[in-house]
Amino acid sequence: MGWQENVIQYRRDLHRIPELGFQETKTHAYLWDRLTSFGLEPKAIGGTGIMADIKGNQSGRTVALRADMDGLPLQEETAEPFISEHPGVMHACGHDGHMAILLGLAERLTGERNFPGTVRVFFQPSEEKLPGGAPTLIEEGVLEGVDAVYGLHLWADDPVGWVGLRPGPMMANADQFTIRIHGVGGHGSQPQVTKDAVLIASQTVVNLQTIVSRRLGAFEPAVVTCGTIKGGQNFNIIAETAEVTGTVRTFSLETQATVEEEITRIAQRTAALYDASAEVDYVKGYPVVINHEREANAWAENLRGLVEVEGPEPNPGGEDFAYYLQHRPGAFLFLGCGQDDNSSAPHHSPHFTVNERALPLGVEVLYRAIEA
Ligand code: NI
Repeated sequence: MGWQENVIQYRRDLHRIPELGFQETKTHAYLWDRLTSFGLEPKAIGGTGIMADIKGNQSGRTVALRADMDGLPLQEETAEPFISEHPGVMHACGHDGHMAILLGLAERLTGERNFPGTVRVFFQPSEEKLPGGAPTLIEEGVLEGVDAVYGLHLWADDPVGWVGLRPGPMMANADQFTIRIHGVGGHGSQPQVTKDAVLIASQTVVNLQTIVSRRLGAFEPAVVTCGTIKGGQNFNIIAETAEVTGTVRTFSLETQATVEEEITRIAQRTAALYDASAEVDYVKGYPVVINHEREANAWAENLRGLVEVEGPEPNPGGEDFAYYLQHRPGAFLFLGCGQDDNSSAPHHSPHFTVNERALPLGVEVLYRAIEA
């Protein structure tokens, strides 16, 4: 069997053994085994991560290709014959497919050896949860000697044969915030001696909506979502404290800074208006994924004729591939893996599945990054 069939088996094997971030020990052993069987000399990096260099038969640059390794804390509910064997953990985002594609590519490259330069394949632990595996791998030298870095994400919303790739922002800054309001509680019948934290929280949620509508320009996209508002104990007690949490998505570091500043300002001043106080905890998630112009365009050019390349709107999800692109030129793309009958469940759903026809195609798509 060649890599075209093997890539599907690799994904099924990995799908059975999903592991959470930085705990990918069985996954590590599986990848290690395969890479060695191709004649490569893998190296452990960043805990459960692995990298291996494959030398071509001509001189050229060193290109790094990345796959993420972790699953999600989710009980799988598909009818796949290779369903997760780990209760409460599932590959529900397609990272099993990313690893299989990269393994398939390593197998193909070691078989052919017909490419310029060096290809470094690397498998990164923990993409799903902060702080992500990327900063650790960079610290431990995964990009040393590397000229460009590429990666992909399977994307179930679009069919096999579709690729989303554009220069500039591909994914968002994905941040979270918590606002704690401190008022003065009391009897529901005596509002004049209290500072009602529930009322202040409500006003804060409303005022935060003016960031997008009144503080950002028409071409500065952002999302400010208040996901929870909690406060109060009983119907006839005025709440002393309340908490609002939410998420922010922005597509540039400048917009991110503005939104962070405005959330703090609005929360504190709204509380001050009612003689109460607010503390804001703003936690930055993964930075925006910004594709480099030359690399994204060259890769898209190489993909013509193979797939339909669309320059999609930036995706409001977060992805720690962003860190690699802060250090080296490169690009990241979405690879359609929707089921042919449109039955695909969304990413991170217990019903998530991957159209396996996307896997051998993914090997070819990554292959074409080598000379991008
Ligand atoms: Ni993912």
